[in-house]
Amino acid sequence: MSLERSVYRRLPRPFIAMAPMEDITDTVFRRVLQRIAAPDLMYTEFAWVNGLCSPKATRFKDRLRFHSDERPLIAQLWGRDPEAYHGAARLVAELGYDGVDINMGCAVKKILKRGAGAGLIETPELAREIIAAVRSGAPDLPVGVKTRLGTRSPAVAEWCGFLLEQRLDALCVHARTAAQGYSGEADWDSLNAVLTLRDRIAPQTFIIGNGDLETAHEALDLHPRYPVDGFMLARAVVRDPLALNRVPGSSVSRLSEAERIALFRRHVSLHAEEWGGRRQVGVLKRFVSTYLGGCSRYATLRPALLRSESHAEMLGILSAAGAEALEMPRCSIG
Ligand SMILES: Cc1cc2nc3c(=O)[nH]c(=O)nc-3n(C[C@H](O)[C@H](O)[C@H](O)COP(=O)(O)O)c2cc1C
Repeated sequence: MSLERSVYRRLPRPFIAMAPMEDITDTVFRRVLQRIAAPDLMYTEFAWVNGLCSPKATRFKDRLRFHSDERPLIAQLWGRDPEAYHGAARLVAELGYDGVDINMGCAVKKILKRGAGAGLIETPELAREIIAAVRSGAPDLPVGVKTRLGTRSPAVAEWCGFLLEQRLDALCVHARTAAQGYSGEADWDSLNAVLTLRDRIAPQTFIIGNGDLETAHEALDLHPRYPVDGFMLARAVVRDPLALNRVPGSSVSRLSEAERIALFRRHVSLHAEEWGGRRQVGVLKRFVSTYLGGCSRYATLRPALLRSESHAEMLGILSAAGAEALEMPRCSIG
């Protein structure tokens, strides 16, 4: 695509991105995050390309639901079939996304077994075909890849060099190998090696660093040492959504207990409005500690919330705890 129109060009440098996370970064959590932490860029959960192309695609297409206030927003796709990637990329373009990202980093067994996610590191020719298929399906959108350093050992020159030769608009690297999963520490020095390669092979490609970042503020402090174009945070945001906020010291723990309960209530009520019975209330339970961990009433609220079987039940518990009257706070909270 024409570089001038790429969303990456419009972002601040370095930019702060919320990572794609399955069952977490749906349209609901993204709207909460946009309101309280205002990241520069967000991604959908990964969506299976074959599912998106099937006639019974409703369940799969749910992953691509979004509201305009979540933008700029990138749709992330996973799979192994170039033809399905082409169709899915067309759909992403029709839906009005700001870009497409291809998952070449997921190291979960069931994905690797299919040769998808980080499995594509072992089949670079197929990876090349997939990138070309996405480009032809969405010629007006920037195309990125999110990957890892290699399969069993880092292969920065071979694998990241190969990807850079594909003239991607963005390359996001989780600085671990697939075999590492989440063990050990992210190897940020390897991101500097990716940057050196980028300058030589594909100066137009934006490099996004990912792995073990605790807060946006910490990431910005690291920028002189690791001068990536963007930083991406994932697990830290599930521990504390305000970790994404650039303001130093931003943390849910600095909100009042009533504000934290109100924030969670807002998340649950948006979830009920958006998904009703289509998505299980169970996916909300991982957010109990996100919003309420450390609150004095956590020990009593937690078991009740974990036992609840419906949105209405969860909302009732949170309202009884005093959430009703409070609005969701805006992103200036430090
Ligand atoms: C629960 C969970 C779901 C995830 N889902 C995705 C996904 O759909 N697509 C993707 O590219 N990465 C996914 N990831 C990986 C994250 O985007 C990120 O690369 C990884 O967690 C490392 O970043 P962190 O150290 O900031 O957590 C997921 C990670 C977790 C923990």
